[in-house]
Parts: sequence; C-alpha cells; structure tokens
Amino acid sequence: KKTDNQALVIFGASGDLTERKLIPAVFNLFCGGFLPESYAVIGVSRSEFTDEEYRIKVVFNNEHLKGKSTATEENLERFAKLVFYQAVDTKNIETYGQLKNRLEQLDQEITTKNNYIFYLATPPSLYQTIANGLAENGLNGNTDGWSRLIVEKPFGYDLESAKALNKGLLCSFSEEQIYRIDHYLGKETVQNMFVTRFANSIFEPLWNRNYIHRIEITAAEHVGVEKRGGYYDSSGALRDMIQNHLFQLVALVAMEPPVRPDAESIRNEKLKVFQSLRAYTDQDIKENVIRGQYLNSTVRGEAVKGYREEEGVQDQSKTETYVAMKFFIDNWRWADVPFYIRTGKSMPTRVTEVVIHFKPNHHHLFAHDSSLSNQQNVLVIRIQPNEGILLKFDMKIPGAGFNTEQVNMDFKYDELSNVYVPDAYERLILDCMQGDATLYARGDSTEAAWEFIDPILKAWENDESIPVYGYPAGTWGPENADNLIDGENMNWRYPCSNLTDDGN
Ligand code: BG6
Repeated sequence: KKTDNQALVIFGASGDLTERKLIPAVFNLFCGGFLPESYAVIGVSRSEFTDEEYRIKVVFNNEHLKGKSTATEENLERFAKLVFYQAVDTKNIETYGQLKNRLEQLDQEITTKNNYIFYLATPPSLYQTIANGLAENGLNGNTDGWSRLIVEKPFGYDLESAKALNKGLLCSFSEEQIYRIDHYLGKETVQNMFVTRFANSIFEPLWNRNYIHRIEITAAEHVGVEKRGGYYDSSGALRDMIQNHLFQLVALVAMEPPVRPDAESIRNEKLKVFQSLRAYTDQDIKENVIRGQYLNSTVRGEAVKGYREEEGVQDQSKTETYVAMKFFIDNWRWADVPFYIRTGKSMPTRVTEVVIHFKPNHHHLFAHDSSLSNQQNVLVIRIQPNEGILLKFDMKIPGAGFNTEQVNMDFKYDELSNVYVPDAYERLILDCMQGDATLYARGDSTEAAWEFIDPILKAWENDESIPVYGYPAGTWGPENADNLIDGENMNWRYPCSNLTDDGN
C-alpha cells in the first residue's frame, strides 16, 4: 500500500507510552524501510525541550531501543534527525498556534505535505480539549492534506462518558479520521483468528451452536498493577481489559464472515456481535460475574504485595483486579452457547488464549480413560506467549481393544523463525499511516460494548452485597469462578506457559 509523506505528532511526548511503545514502533518502521520519503515525528507536551534534548531522551537514552540489534549508532543518528519537539500547553488554545507554525515550518523543510497523524497519548480528560484545539487552528484536515487522530484507551469510563467522548470528538474530526486504538488488534495472533476461521474449510462448518459446547477466553497476567496503582484503582479489570481487549477477541471469535475483508465490512460484523449480547439483569450480574482482588501471599518463596498495599491504591479499595463472567450471544449462530471469559493480575503465569470446546459425540462407541480424555475436541488459539494453535483429539491407545486417549496436534509461531513478527503498535501505526482503520475500533461498536458492561459497573457501585472475593497473589483467582462453568466435570482450562502442557 502507498504511504504518503507525513508527520506523526505525539501528544504526551514525555510520557511512558511514548518511550516504551511509540518511538520503538516508529524506529522499527524506519529500520524496516516502511517510512515514506519525507517523514517527521514531533513530540508535544508541556515541558520545555529543545529538539536535541528530546532526541537524547527518546532516542539515544531510550532503554526500550537499546537492546535492539538494529539500534546501531548509525541508525539511531539517522532516525534522530526525523525527531522534533514542540512545547504546547494543551489547555491554552494559543499555544496550538505555535504548533501550527512549527508544523508549517517543518513542512517547508521536509515536505510532509500537510498530512498529519495526531496521536493522543495523554490522560483521557484531555482528548476532547486537544481535538478542539487542533480543529480551531485548522489542523483537522484541509484541501492540502489529511489529518488523522489516534486515540489511546481508555475510551470512556462508562457508557455515558464514552458517548460524550464520541460526540465531542465528532465536533472536530469525522468518524473516518478517528482511530481508536486497541493494541490487542495489532497482535499477529489476534489477526490470525480471523484467518484461521475464514481461510480454512475445516473449522467454519463446525463453528456454531450445533458443534460447539462453549467458548472460553483467558487473559492472565503474572504481574500485579506495578507502578500504575493510581490509574488502575479508578479503573479495574472490567474497564482495563474486558470492555476493550477481551471483547475484541469475543467479536473476532463470534462474528459472521464479512462481505469483504475491509474496515467497514469487518467492523459491521463486529458491531453485530456486541449488539447481540444478551443484556444482564441485576440477578444475572450477581450469578454470572465474579470479581476478585489479589491478596498478599508468598510466591515461590517470595513475599508478594496484596493489591491494597500497592502504591497509589486506597486502603479500602474495592477495585477488582480479576473478573470472570459468563454470557450469551443471542443470534442464530450462538443461541445458548455459553461464553466464559476471565482476566486477572497476579496470576500464576502470563497467558492469553481462546479455547473452543466442541460438543462430545452423542454416542460413545469406545471406552476411554477419563483421566486421558474428556471426549471433547478442543481447539486452543494461543494469543501469547508461545503463540500457536493446538487441536486436541482422541486416538487409539496401542494394544488390545479400542481404548482412546487425547493427543495434541499443534502449530507454533516460533517454528516460523525466519519470519519477522511486528509489534502490535508497529502494525497499527503503519495501518493508520496508510489510512486503513480495519484494526481500530469504530465509535458505534465501542458504545455497544459499553452498553453491555455499564450495568455491571452500576451494580457493583450500588449494591454493597456483591462481594469482591480475595485471592492470594499468584493463584488462578477466586474459587467461585469455577462454579460459573456449567456441566459435569467441566472447568476452565488452566494453561501453563507452554502451549502443549495442559494444566488440567
Ligand atoms: C493494557 C492494560 O491495555 O494491556 C494493562 O492497561 C495490561 O493493565 C495490558 O497489563 C496487557 O497487554 P499485553 O499486551 O501485555 O497483554
């Protein structure tokens, strides 16, 4: 695809995300030869830096560039020449004029052709102010060039604020110009779910209520809230992981085939999934949504802090660091198939996977050892780490009789050792540079996802009787979550870090 000459303007330029993800992503694009002939990155924040000081901070002294084999002195020098800095007080409308002048001046020097991506890596409370400030200074696109706005998560705090944010941004930019980022969509394995389903003839015919018993998604993190206690305490796992990342996985696993593999067709189908979610009643919330919070504990001989002891977290905080939930998608394909999803911090390992449990045969012809087989075929799509796909099926135990045992057939990404797998941000920034919004969330579906989540937030806020279960750090979360899964001898898959080591 063609990439126009352009500039990337990062608001929040002295923040953690810029150094950790954005600059390294652009640096990789630079090294891979993906940047157009004329290109510039302009860091914007309130602090005063000269261009040179800013280059030292985000290029030469950036810890996240240092380990890379491509980060040679020569590459860093050449890359740093594309990086500039402009101080803007985002709340002071006059300073946007200075930004505009600077961009015009750069445009003379390096012909970025008035094409701009404005990346909002700031606190969400500033999104609308910045969008207005840009628009008032004519930076929201004109006949000479285009403007696009990348908006970081969280996109809204609840349904009302998400709607207000959409409405506010649409006063200054059109929906086609707004790119709501969800970095899970930039993950190669997440995109591959779409291909696994729709490029193979063996899965899709079975991908429905007639053959699938249940679908399970786990996104477990080994780390706690680390240094983000302040942010996290006013967010929680439901807002931080479920409403966005896990729901994107649900949409990809449950959507109908799109008419074409383009942004609008794919996003239309994802929207329909969110619109088909069966709304929870208050009673459903009590029965089908479990929240938990990690408690201090000892993990492999080391003391681990409980959530309430983390910096920035309130002593009596009820913020959840774990959520497990069961829900249904009321449409033709999925009627009565339960979806179970869960996420948590301070779990035994870091793993994200989608597990498709197929229905057992209705007639059992062969004897099976229940410790070796549960007579259900399982397809595991491992998103991270040790990315891959695993199919479990029964085979005959050699010897007399027809006794069966479950075995694995697997594909692992690391077997493709000669293939470069780009980082999520790298892929997403390149897509935006080329005007492709397929892997970005559209406003209507963001609101539809919030519509389902909002009653849970309200119930948790208003109903004191809904417990926040404690779980020792380093464990799989509250035991009550096990009761969510219906069916005899059915449980969550307890994955190990390795794809093929089954924890069950
Ligand atoms: C972020 C959340 O969006 O995703 C973090 O704010 C979380 O709390 C992170 O740790 C997980 O991303 P990944 O790519 O490590 O699975």
